[in-house]
Amino acid sequence: MSIGHAGRSLDGVATRRILVTGGDGLIGSAVVRLLAELGARVDVYDLGGPDAAARAGQAGAENHTSGSVTDMTSVAKAVDGHDAVVHLAGIAGLDGGTAEQIYTANTLGTFLVMEAAAQAGVAKVVYASSINASGLPLNPHAVLPSRYPWDEDEPAVIADAYSLSKQANEAAAVALSRRHGLAMTGLRYPLVRDITAAGGTVFARHIRRVLREDPRRQACEGWTYLDVRDAATATVAALTHDTPAAPGILVAAPRTYLRQETDQALRQTVPGVPRTPTAGRDVPVSLDRAAAQLGFTATTLLEDIDPALLADLDDLGDLDR
Ligand SMILES: NC(=O)c1ccc[n+]([C@@H]2O[C@H](COP(=O)([O-])OP(=O)(O)OC[C@H]3O[C@@H](n4cnc5c(N)ncnc54)[C@H](O)[C@@H]3O)[C@@H](O)[C@H]2O)c1
Repeated sequence: MSIGHAGRSLDGVATRRILVTGGDGLIGSAVVRLLAELGARVDVYDLGGPDAAARAGQAGAENHTSGSVTDMTSVAKAVDGHDAVVHLAGIAGLDGGTAEQIYTANTLGTFLVMEAAAQAGVAKVVYASSINASGLPLNPHAVLPSRYPWDEDEPAVIADAYSLSKQANEAAAVALSRRHGLAMTGLRYPLVRDITAAGGTVFARHIRRVLREDPRRQACEGWTYLDVRDAATATVAALTHDTPAAPGILVAAPRTYLRQETDQALRQTVPGVPRTPTAGRDVPVSLDRAAAQLGFTATTLLEDIDPALLADLDDLGDLDR
């Protein structure tokens, strides 16, 4: 179910003051770089540490503030004076901490950033949700989507702290945009990486490893991915487009990282799940809302780097020979 939107997005980012929480991270630093290139005045709020301020400066940020998103006083100070907030700070996945740490950083942190943004009169908040908001990929049980292609309205089946934190973020976005009339957009990022690193071989090895380790999880994600520069483009598009506050919008490269055609891959790995035919290697996840609500289509594709890097479900050891 979509919830009606409140407030108005930015009409452009040039000259706007934009705070990026988690701006020292993978997606955050790419967002800072792109916003600075587009003429925005960008500030970073992140945990800090050695050289964090220098890295933010190199990416194009004017200021770096060290602090946790779980500290309301510090968050309120950092948010003050900005036209928009891109909220990416958090623990990205189950390997980054205990369940308690993940849930606290992601859920309390997101609530406080959204609340502070409302108090400060910020126009727009873009927040990081995840393809895991459905709870399917990280579920410890052998659950599968109800159908392919699945979309943002797929019923959630959650059994882990990270997916739960992403659902909670989407619920917070609905509640706080309703309460304060603040425009918000969530993005359900899939697997995000710099897919061009080392000529694409780092990413190619990664997908082969995860396909071997947990083929069900990868099938739940529809074998989706997104290059980090495309993730930044989608994030910046979200600043300037009015959307419902939730559900988060699925963003991904339009084709899978598999060599197999998608219908063949689905027949092979999840034969019991109902599906409508998918063309060629198109992802079996709907990207309609990304196109219609954000005008976003990803452009960096693994096959354009090197088609030999696409993963063959029947031969996941090809790069090791
Ligand atoms: N990378 C992916 O594949 C992916 C996929 C889906 C969703 N996401 C989401 O996107 C967001 C950004 O992910 P990323 O890949 O850039 O992760 P990342 O780990 O590279 O960056 C996260 C940043 O948040 C900061 N951070 C962590 N806890 C914090 C706290 N309490 N206070 C302030 N800063 C804190 C970290 O220092 C780091 O710089 C996260 O919310 C993540 O859950 C990422």
